[in-house]
Amino acid sequence: KTPYVVTGKSFTAVAINCAAKAGEWIKSRLGQYKSLEVKSSMHDVVTEVDKGAELMIRKLIQTHFPHHSILGEEGAGCGQAASEEALKEALQSEYLWIIDPLDGTTNYVHGFPFFSVSIALAHKGEVIVGIVYDPIRDELFVAEKGKGAYVRGQRMQVADEKNLHGSLIASGFPTDFTRALPVNLKGIQALAPKVRNIRTAGSAALHMAYVAAGRLTGFWELNLNAWDLAAGSLLISEAGGSITDTHGQPYHLGVRDVLGSNGHIHADFIQVLKDADAQG
Ligand code: IPD
Ligand code: CA
Ligand code: CA
Ligand code: CA
Repeated sequence: KTPYVVTGKSFTAVAINCAAKAGEWIKSRLGQYKSLEVKSSMHDVVTEVDKGAELMIRKLIQTHFPHHSILGEEGAGCGQAASEEALKEALQSEYLWIIDPLDGTTNYVHGFPFFSVSIALAHKGEVIVGIVYDPIRDELFVAEKGKGAYVRGQRMQVADEKNLHGSLIASGFPTDFTRALPVNLKGIQALAPKVRNIRTAGSAALHMAYVAAGRLTGFWELNLNAWDLAAGSLLISEAGGSITDTHGQPYHLGVRDVLGSNGHIHADFIQVLKDADAQG
């Protein structure tokens, strides 16, 4: 039984309970999913576990906050991905829950134990609660705007590292092979000799939680969506780090090319990627 079930119906309590409940179920179905559907391509798959977890989370949120809006990767009908229009419309809502019920589906279907549940609440476009839950390690990452970020109940602080050469950086391989992948590969090639090493472990939300926890010094990835990033963005900023797009503009819910770090390496990190891209 997860220790994370909490009482009360504050935004954060509901978010934690959603993540704990969905995470427990996701873990219990590991290696036993029944259907594997292809979404946009063979690189983009979904199982009934993703959809079930999203439905579970939606129901719990709706029970407590029936007037709030919800944006989830698998869509209201669970199976229909959120469109650009749905995203724009959702961003107008006063209170918007942003859910990735299972971040790291590819890992999940292969039994690679690195995936998470990501839940954020935005008020008028600003993320005020961010939760990332890793059910395998039973690690809950929680941030509230202005109140810090915590893992396993302990306050998180980004890594102290001042330079790129002592940094451990993560990224993810985009499945947009025309624009994003070539740009990402140039970035990896330029960055690899300048940093300690690079990881691509397959869950953007968990990568960001690890930046907040100081386990990674930085993270960048292209072509992500609000549900991959919203919770992680608050974890990083509340743990004292910096979160922007890959050009250094402040993070907002529409950002798709993201770059997060401990702050100290932020400018150098952006510069290396920028130079790599400019070199063509
Ligand atoms: C994916 C993961 C992965 C990232 C992909 C995302 P999903 O999310 O975050 O790490 O590289 O771009 O789409 O589809 O497993 O929720
Ligand atoms: Ca997906
Ligand atoms: Ca995701
Ligand atoms: Ca997902």
